Amino acid sequence: MTTAGESFATRLVRWQRSHGRNHLPWQNTRDPYRVWLSEIMLQQTQVATVLEYFDRFLARFPDVKALAAADQDDVLGLWSGLGYYSRARNLHRCAQDVVERFAGHFPSTAAQLQTLPGIGRSTAAAIASFCFGERVAILDGNVKRVLTRWLGFEADLARAANERELWDGASRLLPERSADMPSYTQGIMDLGATVCLSRSPSCLVCPVASDCVARLQGRVQDYPVRTRTLRRSSVSLWLLWAWREDGAVWLHKRAARGVWAGLYSLPAFDNVEDLNATVPPSLRESAIDFPAFVHVLTHRDLHLHPVRVQMSAGQQPGGEGAWVSAQQWPALGLPAPVRRLLQATVAPD
Ligand code: ADE
Repeated sequence: MTTAGESFATRLVRWQRSHGRNHLPWQNTRDPYRVWLSEIMLQQTQVATVLEYFDRFLARFPDVKALAAADQDDVLGLWSGLGYYSRARNLHRCAQDVVERFAGHFPSTAAQLQTLPGIGRSTAAAIASFCFGERVAILDGNVKRVLTRWLGFEADLARAANERELWDGASRLLPERSADMPSYTQGIMDLGATVCLSRSPSCLVCPVASDCVARLQGRVQDYPVRTRTLRRSSVSLWLLWAWREDGAVWLHKRAARGVWAGLYSLPAFDNVEDLNATVPPSLRESAIDFPAFVHVLTHRDLHLHPVRVQMSAGQQPGGEGAWVSAQQWPALGLPAPVRRLLQATVAPD
């Protein structure tokens, strides 16, 4: 079959139905709760990992009301391992907003969805197009790559005005029929995830390769154009790793703002002197400095210096916290590097 003269959207929709991903558990449903949950989980996590968490989350919180009524610690605990916990905190707040502001029903337009915590323009458009057939464009990282290549869009996306122009371009390419929107949105995501790859795109199987400007120029690798790199900062933290022979560790719940907000963590200090001040003097000699390591966050590098101190029954560090048993801590929402540290001392089966 020739594809000459067919629009970008027509080719993409047809390709999605035969070659796209059509059996993921959040597809073939128009339930905004499921679609929203999957989109938030998929923001920084691969499909294979999300599959496991998605089912577990739904089993525990089957609808938005159940999630809204949950304890924040239970939500963060169930999220633990997915990382980027601000997503989980926003998820919980969003569920509460849906119950309070919209009587427990997700609003049906992208404009209204965008007023909810954790739902940006692209995620709002994904939910509105999947569930309500709204003709609105998504533009996540993968889609930017697809569209800048196909359009030959060379302007620097580090500038907000250029990004707005790409949003306009994305909006002009939408299918005419609202009934095609779910397949179109999924199709452009699937194309970015499986064909129009960053390093070695599979142009031979791409449904829109015949008029892809980047391909016709032989410059597929030059898109998207983005000059500015993230300005990174770096922070050092000393982690007090107090433990007992029975496997308990001393953890405290961090404040609602800042690094690792709301998570349970080993107490963290800006310098080793502040850490030492919380250790009983008789134990300071036997404290063990672990090798420092770097944990990379989105905008900052954390240089972590664990200091391990064994304590006996009846002892505890100064400052806030509690002993948490070896049975309990794995289910808490812990920062990924803290979880890895603690796990390293648990003997494998
Ligand atoms: N990434 C973001 N949203 C997705 C979806 N609906 N399906 C597959 N991957 C995705």
